Amino acid sequence: MKIKDKIKHLEELEKQALLGGGKERINAQHKKGKLTARERIELLLDKGTFRETDKFVTHSCTDFGMDKKKILGDGVVTGYGRINGRKVCIFVEDFTVFGGSLSHAYAEKICKLQDFSLRMGCPIIGIKDSGGARIQEGVESLAGYTDVFLRNVMSSGVVPQISAVMGPCAGGAVYSPAMTDFIIMVKGSYMFLTGPNVVKAATHEEVTSEELGGAGVHNAKSGVAHFSADSEIEGVELIKKLLSFIPQNNLEDTPPIEPNDDVNRMNKKLDEIVPDSPNKPYDMSEVIKKVIDDGDFFEIHEHYAKNLIVGFARMNGKSVGIVGNQPAVLAGVLDKDSSMKGARFVRFCDCFNIPIITFVDVPGFLPGTAQEWGGVIKNGAKLLYAYCESTVPRITIITRKAYGGAYCVMSSKHTRTDINFAWPSAEIAVMGPEGAVKILYKNKIKDAKNPKELEKKLIDEYTEKFANPFITASKGYIDAIIRPSETRPRIIEALQVIENKRDTNPPRKHGNIPL
Ligand code: HXC
Repeated sequence: MKIKDKIKHLEELEKQALLGGGKERINAQHKKGKLTARERIELLLDKGTFRETDKFVTHSCTDFGMDKKKILGDGVVTGYGRINGRKVCIFVEDFTVFGGSLSHAYAEKICKLQDFSLRMGCPIIGIKDSGGARIQEGVESLAGYTDVFLRNVMSSGVVPQISAVMGPCAGGAVYSPAMTDFIIMVKGSYMFLTGPNVVKAATHEEVTSEELGGAGVHNAKSGVAHFSADSEIEGVELIKKLLSFIPQNNLEDTPPIEPNDDVNRMNKKLDEIVPDSPNKPYDMSEVIKKVIDDGDFFEIHEHYAKNLIVGFARMNGKSVGIVGNQPAVLAGVLDKDSSMKGARFVRFCDCFNIPIITFVDVPGFLPGTAQEWGGVIKNGAKLLYAYCESTVPRITIITRKAYGGAYCVMSSKHTRTDINFAWPSAEIAVMGPEGAVKILYKNKIKDAKNPKELEKKLIDEYTEKFANPFITASKGYIDAIIRPSETRPRIIEALQVIENKRDTNPPRKHGNIPL
């Protein structure tokens, strides 16, 4: 064959590969309101930067007549390209080919890309649209999945891993995204280990795919997903924005952006944001937005455990992770779910050199059997552990309450936080005044002529003594009491001081975080 003919042959094969499962299946995909794998790549990557790898890979299954059904690329499109100029690796499951199901060859393509992204130190993005293990392949596909899972674990904390679910993500398909750093789910997509039919057979429970594992469920109930997007376009925008806050790998910093916001900007409204009454709620996200650059807060897990806020922002153009108790939801109490949410976020920031700023207004841990039986001790310990082991620069601001164990947990000085601020409105004590008085003076109040009056007097006295930051500051557990209005410049200045911080943990195989 002449070279001219060889080139022609290549072009024909390339054309064929581009069609995936064929025109009919592409039309069916569009009819469901879904884009194809290649359309998704086009939407996500900078124009003209995608380079496909392993376009001609096919499966090697011969059972069930599969030897006569070979499709170039075999159901997953893999390659690399750029997003806003930064390198990424990407694999996109192609539902038009055998329902996006995973064969051994398909898994090998993903593994090769995972190894590549790890060596090159660039984030890897997986777009999920798959019916799970390719049933015709049996154990070969299970082996393939496990090879992918192993690499998810090896990549964890070295390169950011992001998953976006844009269709079914069933059976074995769920565990790879579950081990990545962030999951975005587009409305209409679903994730479950076993589908509605199996659920019905096993438990007689009747549920739809959406009810079992839709974007709403995994964002608000299970916490499996971090973001919900109304459309694939919105999902793609979320990936781009998320990437802008995180570095390429664990040895790099996130590239700063040219800041628009004034470093010295004060905000007088912050002086009035904490209500005089200790039990009145206020919105911590307002505090956060008034402090960060341009009020641009990128919230993570927005719909899950809303009593704790986590997300990314910038201070003077540099990426930071924000954690904040939310007094507007359950009075900002810590519970089993919010503790886990916080722990996961703190650990991500610590893996990827992103300084953490913690805003504290927490009345304690949520009491009750649901919490105790649900493992609030273990989960609270996760957050505590995550803060204690982290070595990234950390700043804490206590805006109001910091009571009991929750004081310890929420990036207190004792967890190696670098700079601890408190507002004059801070109240730091072993527990709230009402509870403390009831325990300390139980008999005295019971025997009093006017128990109500005495109780109030004792509560006032206790509040007077502890509902301020001065005792804590006198012990050096707070570095400075600052005016709320000056929070932004004080944090930026502190971040500059601690940005080259070096801290280590004792050498060991790994710690044993209470999972
Ligand atoms: C092989 C599959 C497949 C699979 C779908 N297809 N899933 N082929 N293996 N796992 C094929 C279908 O046969 C069909 O081919 C085409 O993909 C499109 O599928 P449809 O069913 O027509 O599409 P839809 O109605 O949209 O339903 C999508 C779906 C459904 C909900 C994902 O296909 C489904 O329930 N699939 C099986 C899901 C599942 O139970 N997976 C678990 C596998 S076991 P034709 O040629 O007919 O159009 C597993 C365990 C691994 O994953 C554990 C590892 C740790």
